[in-house]
Amino acid sequence: MNPTPTDIAAARARIDVLRTEIRRHDRLYYVEAAPEISDHDYDRLYQELKNLEQSWPELVTPDSPTQRVAGEPLTAFATKPHALPMLSLDNTYDENDLRRFHDYVCRGLRDEQPVYVIEPKIDGVSISVRYEHGQLVQALTRGDGSQGDDVTANLKTIPSLPLRLAGPGPFPEVFEVRGEVFISKSGFQLLNARRQAQGEDEFANARNAAAGTLKLLDPRQVAERPLDVLFYAQGEIIGLEITSQQQLFQALADYGFRTQAWRRTADDFTSIAAAIRELLAAKHDFLYDIDGAVIKVDSFAQREILGLTAKAPSWARAFKYEPERRETRLRAITVQVGRTGVLTPVAELEPVALAGSTIARATLHNEDEIARKDIRIGDMVRIEKAGDVIPAVVNVVLGKRPPDAKPFDFFQHVGGKCPSCGSDIQRDPQFAAWRCLNLQCPAQSVRRLGHFAARQALDLEGLGGVVAEALVEQGLVREPLDVFALEQEPLASLNLGTTDAPRQFGTNNAKRLLDAIARAREMPLSNWLLALGIPEVGAATAFHIGRTHRDMRDLAESSVLRDLLALLAIQDGVLPEPQPSLAELGDLFAAAEARQPKALTAKASKDELVARLQPLGLIKLGSNGVYVTTVIGPKTARNIVDFFASETGKELLQRLEELGINPPGTGAEAETETDATAEAAGATPLAGKTFVITGTLSEEREAVAAKIRAAGGTVSSAVSRNTNYLVAGANVGARKTEKAAQLGVRVIGEEELRAMLKQGGG
Ligand code: IVH
Repeated sequence: MNPTPTDIAAARARIDVLRTEIRRHDRLYYVEAAPEISDHDYDRLYQELKNLEQSWPELVTPDSPTQRVAGEPLTAFATKPHALPMLSLDNTYDENDLRRFHDYVCRGLRDEQPVYVIEPKIDGVSISVRYEHGQLVQALTRGDGSQGDDVTANLKTIPSLPLRLAGPGPFPEVFEVRGEVFISKSGFQLLNARRQAQGEDEFANARNAAAGTLKLLDPRQVAERPLDVLFYAQGEIIGLEITSQQQLFQALADYGFRTQAWRRTADDFTSIAAAIRELLAAKHDFLYDIDGAVIKVDSFAQREILGLTAKAPSWARAFKYEPERRETRLRAITVQVGRTGVLTPVAELEPVALAGSTIARATLHNEDEIARKDIRIGDMVRIEKAGDVIPAVVNVVLGKRPPDAKPFDFFQHVGGKCPSCGSDIQRDPQFAAWRCLNLQCPAQSVRRLGHFAARQALDLEGLGGVVAEALVEQGLVREPLDVFALEQEPLASLNLGTTDAPRQFGTNNAKRLLDAIARAREMPLSNWLLALGIPEVGAATAFHIGRTHRDMRDLAESSVLRDLLALLAIQDGVLPEPQPSLAELGDLFAAAEARQPKALTAKASKDELVARLQPLGLIKLGSNGVYVTTVIGPKTARNIVDFFASETGKELLQRLEELGINPPGTGAEAETETDATAEAAGATPLAGKTFVITGTLSEEREAVAAKIRAAGGTVSSAVSRNTNYLVAGANVGARKTEKAAQLGVRVIGEEELRAMLKQGGG
């Protein structure tokens, strides 16, 4: 039966009532922290609305409370202009500077007396959110200040963000407000614990986590992260008069935005200084990270008089708190074993309270770092937590060095043996690092297993740190491939606790993990290659290997990599044409490195090699007439070849064969493609382009640089006329963006870069 207009009207009326109620309860719960109904009653309202909207899809509106997580993942963020530039703040660490700021304000205002508002400076990522006629229409990141990324879908997932302004209206034509997206201290702990359990890299600090989350392309993933937002400034406002910061806060509260509760006013320097000291003392009580205070002139009329510079308003200052340092005793140095057997020294400290937590350990990086800082066991050391979670030893307090402080000799300290398995260790000259040479070392097994199970690798959800450790310790797994022999029963009773306080993994978890393991059998070659953890092989290499090889067996005897190495060897003059066998090639490179030329000749001519490699998009002709690799460098290629030629590699292939696993690449298609399409699938989307990276990105800057290089681009440290793109993350310094603007260098965000990288990947 077709619905009658009365049916629709009734549904519409009920939907309106439900939405209004749900919005009110959202606000009470998330903004005012004063809920009126139980979670259960709330869920009932929400479910009723969802059901009605399902029956009447034409009545769904974007501002419905059900639409917080909606839409498909994006391929890239659109860059959009800011109606008003998003400025930054001038910073200072020095109270005298602040006094000068106050003097400057007083001079500028002549006979008028300023009133200041002092607010905590939230350590997050700034955002500009725009409402038109009361409806949320857009959320932009700061970007370069004049344009930013459209992250509306991501912002909408934050429960406290109004999708429409609260209250009866009428609403201003435009109400654009600015604030800070962040992750609370506890949210960050939870997020990292979850990542650790899933074998994913942990975020260094809450700000990075927030920045990375905001730049995720899939709103469903964003919704799973504990993002939050607080507002403190206005952007473009049309149809409403606001004349001061205090009025702005009132308007924000009336419209249902969350603002910071802590706020002080001051009308002279003494009270400014008192407020920032009071805030510093209260810093650790905040549920989120703050890195200073912001001092703003309250009156907007006075702000007009004081004006702006290109980068920051003259009516405000940020007073940043120095990263906290503490002195404590270095009791001992212990040594940790990483996935590749690298041994990392760790400082064991007399526990000390620092930046809101108790610190008992800090990384010492490597042997050279310890020598450079002349760190000795027993020393009094100064430690710092500069916004990061992992504390560092800054220096030694020499005046407090005890006479018996012991200089640290790495080799002697561990008795020349791996602290985990007792095997011999060797110093890797390239990385200032000592390495355990035993591939069966349990500490390495645990790390390798974690790497194997990571999301970008085989995505074995539930096989994170603790579980990996228990599996290795209790003898269920020694090598990652052992997971394919796991059975439900022993897995379910795996003890994650101690002998005294056992804690079982459980049947459900076991089932879930076994499902993930079953899925891993079908994962493509690129994921498998990443899972193997071959040195230098990152996501970009894995992707290009995947698309140029048919399957794992094809890769193990890769003619593509052999061709690539041969071509480079011919060009370097190491190898006369034509070309030798793979084993001979390995020898040849080794000989070349040891400067012992070997009399070998190549079996294919340079032209033949070029003809085979160019259509695959793995090489390009450089300006000097020499072919260069674009995505897989000679060192990486050799590492892969070496791996499959090694005993470990051969065993791996053998075991995969026994398990009936042969991860497929997309190589078969690549081979049947015409040269033109293969080139369009282009492996070198960034060829000839120079990038500079600035600001906080969602991953290590070096990792981003590696991806750019892998795609044929060049990365340099300073913006110049030769720069094509400035990749700006969160909290970008104004210096680089200003220089970029001067030179007409395009500023792009991380997502745009990712999209550019992807274009090569099809
Ligand atoms: S006012 C015109 N107030 O700090 C500038 N900013 O270092 C308006 N921030 O870009 C900014 N807490 O992302 C303001 N209470 C606060 C803030 C705050 C954090 C951030 C903001 C700004 C950066 C400058």
